[in-house]
Amino acid sequence: MSSMDQKLSYNEYLKVSDLLRAQQLQSTPTHHDEMLFIIIHQTYELWFRLIIHELDAAIAAVFDGNIFYAEQLLARVTEIQHTLVNQIHILETMQPINFLAFRDKLRPASGFQSWQFREIEIMTGVKEPKVLTVFNEEVEIKKRLEERLAAPSLGDAFYTLLAKSGFKVEVAPSRDDREEWSKWKDKVVPELLKLYTETAKYADLYRLAERLIDIDEYAALWRYHHLRIVERIIGVKQGTGGSEGLGYLQTTLSRKAFPELWEVRTRLEFRQS
Ligand code: HEM
Repeated sequence: MSSMDQKLSYNEYLKVSDLLRAQQLQSTPTHHDEMLFIIIHQTYELWFRLIIHELDAAIAAVFDGNIFYAEQLLARVTEIQHTLVNQIHILETMQPINFLAFRDKLRPASGFQSWQFREIEIMTGVKEPKVLTVFNEEVEIKKRLEERLAAPSLGDAFYTLLAKSGFKVEVAPSRDDREEWSKWKDKVVPELLKLYTETAKYADLYRLAERLIDIDEYAALWRYHHLRIVERIIGVKQGTGGSEGLGYLQTTLSRKAFPELWEVRTRLEFRQS
């Protein structure tokens, strides 16, 4: 593209005009703070896109046994998550009364319908098919998420690598079958205890497991910060997506991609050798 007479410009490369055309306010007369509301969500969606891109590569790297590269990619994901946690606070500069001035125009749109958010959950290992019903009328999106549900997650890649490395573990069954999943967890935790006891022996795998915990920790932090902002701005009002709002969000706080890696901490014991 960049011949002498047709040089690529910054604005063309980054499609700046396209980006700046994408803020279409619903309020009439337009409300000053709606621009903030749109841009903050759009930047989240862009970061979500990058997280999906990085997770795809990280899952492939873990399957290939390329732990060094996988770790680098997952460290990047966590750095992005730091930004995602912090940037939600920009919304605290919006007065509750100013949000109410345009909130009704947004119904029934809600962050609940962010398919990239769900895709990230599924890719890390939170596979809860019931969340897909919200996309019943968005056929392409639903199909994409169903494909993701059927595809191996980061957790699946991790346990495949552990099995190849001599640990007696299998890939997790669906969490919909509570009993099967619980049996799986009871078998996997003792193996993970080896990893978390003999950390120097399994240094690479241990570090990788800690990158997975990082992802879960920052996802949980985001949920908590989002919940606080929601309470600060709309209290316990019902969500625009139709949920009871704060009460619903509280139930999501304990959602984890790797609950078994958290349980290891509880079960770990120090023994003098
Ligand atoms: C004024 C600011 C915000 C308010 C009042 C708010 C409110 C809510 C409420 C009440 C819900 C529950 C679902 C519903 O019934 O609508 C929800 C869900 C959600 N929101 Fe927000 N939100 C805000 C900002 C954001 C931002 C900036 C994002 C960034 C993408 C976001 C992403 C989400 C996501 C992903 C969910 C689904 C969470 C889950 O099901 O686990 N929200 N929000």
